Amino acid sequence: MNAELLTLVRELKARVAEGDLIASTAAAPAPRAQASVGAPAAASAEAPAAGGTLDALKEQVSACRKCPLGTQRLNAVFGVGSPSADVMFVGEGPGYQEDRQGEPFVGKAGQLLDDILKAIGLSRQTVYIANVVKCHPMTDPTNPEARGNDRPPTPEEIDECRPYLEEQIRLIKPRFVVTLGNVATRALLREEIGITRARGIWRELVVPGLERPVRLLPTFHPAALLRDPSLKRDVWTDMKNLRQELAS
Ligand code: URA
Repeated sequence: MNAELLTLVRELKARVAEGDLIASTAAAPAPRAQASVGAPAAASAEAPAAGGTLDALKEQVSACRKCPLGTQRLNAVFGVGSPSADVMFVGEGPGYQEDRQGEPFVGKAGQLLDDILKAIGLSRQTVYIANVVKCHPMTDPTNPEARGNDRPPTPEEIDECRPYLEEQIRLIKPRFVVTLGNVATRALLREEIGITRARGIWRELVVPGLERPVRLLPTFHPAALLRDPSLKRDVWTDMKNLRQELAS
């Protein structure tokens, strides 16, 4: 674990131990949203064929070649966690480590996400973690073994992969979705909103086929925290907010 991570873990543990989890929530409540409906219930272009289970969907994702990423990646990265999770965390897309291991958030940002979850009594086994795109977007797709070969997914890649994420949400039916960073927040809300403005404000996510909208909370991506540790305070506020809602 690097020094940054250790500092965050220590800070979070100290705050949990001090009971700050409850006290600061009361003292400084996070901004609460008026329910603003994200996407109009636009049906995705190609909904996954009805398999009806996460396992069937995972098979489908493994065989997907709808966009070039499907032929470039080493492994599809479907998702991990409880199929009946109350909360689902959604990131951008797999990076180098995730591509190798076939599991989301297993690199440095993933270790930080694990620590954040732990600080509010959650774990990668009790939540569900997935990405907007399931295959590693690379700047140089001819060299998947290279480090530093990551790029954000294009709007076209996001649109091709969106039906899989929507189906994951339909199958898991989480009470809450936490979007990590700009890409996930924009992709799910279908809005060109920046994460700095969006974070900490509850939204409602309309998923076609689900009876009710899912409450969605945007926060910063753990990779952003590694780059700028001053963002940890806001993420901590958001996680306390989430924890409070989970308990209600
Ligand atoms: N960043 C993401 O957005 N997702 C991962 O799975 C890993 C890093």
